[in-house]
Amino acid sequence: MAAFAMAVYFRGLDGAETFALTDAMIRSGETIDLHAAIGRKVVDKHSTGGVGDKTSLAVGPIVAACGVPFGKMSGRGLGHTGGTLDKLESIPGFRVELTTDEFLRQVRDGGLAIIGQGATLVPADKLLYGLRDVTATVDNVSLIAASIMSKKIAAGADAIVLDVKVGDGAFMKTIEDARELAEMMLELGRHARREVACVLTDMDQPLGHAVGNALEIRETIATLRGDGPPDFTELVLAASAHLLAFSDLGVDEAAGRQRAAAAVRDGSALAMYERWIAAQGGDPDEDALPTAPVVLDVDAPGVGYVGAIGAVDVGMAALRLGAGRHTKDDRIDHAVGVLCLKKRGDRVGAGEALAQVHAHDDRSAAKAAEEVLAAYTFTDDVPPATSIVLETIG
Ligand code: URA
Repeated sequence: MAAFAMAVYFRGLDGAETFALTDAMIRSGETIDLHAAIGRKVVDKHSTGGVGDKTSLAVGPIVAACGVPFGKMSGRGLGHTGGTLDKLESIPGFRVELTTDEFLRQVRDGGLAIIGQGATLVPADKLLYGLRDVTATVDNVSLIAASIMSKKIAAGADAIVLDVKVGDGAFMKTIEDARELAEMMLELGRHARREVACVLTDMDQPLGHAVGNALEIRETIATLRGDGPPDFTELVLAASAHLLAFSDLGVDEAAGRQRAAAAVRDGSALAMYERWIAAQGGDPDEDALPTAPVVLDVDAPGVGYVGAIGAVDVGMAALRLGAGRHTKDDRIDHAVGVLCLKKRGDRVGAGEALAQVHAHDDRSAAKAAEEVLAAYTFTDDVPPATSIVLETIG
């Protein structure tokens, strides 16, 4: 299989071959018919992976608060990208491992569940992904499309919103590559008779402010309260609007967006978050989250505008602090990470805090602070404004 992965990496797969691979991967294990089990149309979302990407954690409660069942299986982080399950595990008591029956019951009765993918769904992906990781063959459009879509199709949602990250911190570095991946995943979805939309989103800087598990949970709670960072809030509302438009509520995207915004405003999204976390055994109180013993400001060296923030560099700084894993078996420190207080386009004064490092000790804090500062570039003039959602396909 390692030789196969390398052959695909160098030669590529055509459409028919990608369908065949996806199909074979789905058939390597169990599949779930969520529609039949829940008795309603169920929606799902997936991201190709980025830095500071906690989108599902906010989208799930919003969509569920609007009355649409949301059942999702998520993965763990590897390398500079964080994983939704690791973020959820920073909540004391939270259980990511539910049986399929518990998962279905919770989506049906509570409206929302996010769990780890058990060994029974697409076991071929777990094995193949492990081999791709050690043979440097992760980064291939067909292999990524088959890996993501086999899991989404086997997990059984009727409609799926795919967040395809583009830029320095993503697998897809250019918009052209992201479009190719999006088109391939749309085709695989059509083939399996699922409704799919792809939002291509900016991963040239970390998403929101927080990078690191408990810090990202805090930012999720703030966003559900209506106090989230603008880029993250925009992506959450855009993804929620797509999901609501796909649902059986019979609303279009504009009405979906209004409902999503209303669920944040009236507190129902935050109340849903709290019920969901408690239902999976976790303590939803923000004060229950772990905090790092050392917090160090990273100060701006001069006056100017933030021109860019290297997402991979920030992701790697957080990883080295202990927020991520070098190998699958590494243990995570849920409290540590980086807050990028200033983002692209923000004006900074000399000595003003650009970022904050949350660390286990002074030494690792000082090292991470240097790395985070090196990730920032400054300009004299305001850089052109960009939007978080670059394009929607499907
Ligand atoms: N996410 C996946 O699940 N698989 C890939 O191959 C890449 C990102």
